[in-house]
Amino acid sequence: MATSRLPGMTETPGSGGAEPKGPAPFLKWVGGKRQLLPELLRRIERLETFGAYHEPFVGGGALFFELWSRGRLSGPVRLSDNNPNLIVAYEGVKHEVEPVIELLREHARRHDKEHYYATRAAQPDSLAAQAARIIYLNRTCFNGLFRENSRGEFNVPMGRYVNPRICDEANLRAVAKALREVRIEIAPFDSVLDAAAPGDLVYFDPPYHPVSATANFTAYQKGGFGEEDQRMLAGVFRTLDASGVYVLLSNSWTEFVRGLYADFALEKVSASRCVNSRADRRGAVWEVLVRNF
Ligand SMILES: C[S@@+](CC[C@H](N)C(=O)[O-])C[C@H]1O[C@@H](n2cnc3c(N)ncnc32)[C@H](O)[C@@H]1O
Repeated sequence: MATSRLPGMTETPGSGGAEPKGPAPFLKWVGGKRQLLPELLRRIERLETFGAYHEPFVGGGALFFELWSRGRLSGPVRLSDNNPNLIVAYEGVKHEVEPVIELLREHARRHDKEHYYATRAAQPDSLAAQAARIIYLNRTCFNGLFRENSRGEFNVPMGRYVNPRICDEANLRAVAKALREVRIEIAPFDSVLDAAAPGDLVYFDPPYHPVSATANFTAYQKGGFGEEDQRMLAGVFRTLDASGVYVLLSNSWTEFVRGLYADFALEKVSASRCVNSRADRRGAVWEVLVRNF
């Protein structure tokens, strides 16, 4: 399904339509796709229909929640990510939303420096308590940066939010509803090869290839995501393409990434990211969208 390279260079927001009322990401996630949603939706609108939907780097799941809200997901859905803490949060909200809400209310009541660091050090046993811990830390930690050290421990200091929104009950219930029939797994991205069938749609949003040596935000967790991983991902893209799966991918607009996908439709789109702690380095950045449909 490879198409010829498009000259397309889009700077204006797409025709995503009015904001639907529905569940939104319940975690703040580095690389969250909210700003890019209109561009992604415009490409997906090209598909009249598709089978199952797969997101192998789900993170905050911005596109999944948007597609769900718009009623675009009529087939099975599989969301996966190799970050176990993230997946625990999804599982907790999916299966135990009321206990999670209760525990988050308690975190909100007790929120201060001492409570933050005690919660960070804690290792609760139950799924609901584990999920509430992750959501609480994510809403209150510095910059919402979900970073782990080399031992896989969450080591981010407390953020300086005046009034952080720790428990958004209505959204958590809406998320639980959206996740009811969804398969959620801790898995490396290439597991999609076993899960996807012809006619399915796969959206890949990997950790960005860094635009410069200092702009490296790929350390989401131990291990990082280097050029070898990017090459392997391009191989998975190709295999899916050859077996009739619709594939859409976003990444940073770098020569390396463009080279990996040179025989597919490449488009340059703009998105503003807020992952830099220095305000003067925030702002519009260029991203690439790659697709085979
Ligand atoms: C750019 S973020 C995805 C952001 C997401 N689209 C959103 O809207 O929030 C990339 C995700 O890839 C995950 N990840 C990193 N390496 C991975 C791997 N080898 N396999 C699967 N997931 C991985 C990270 O845990 C992170 O959640």
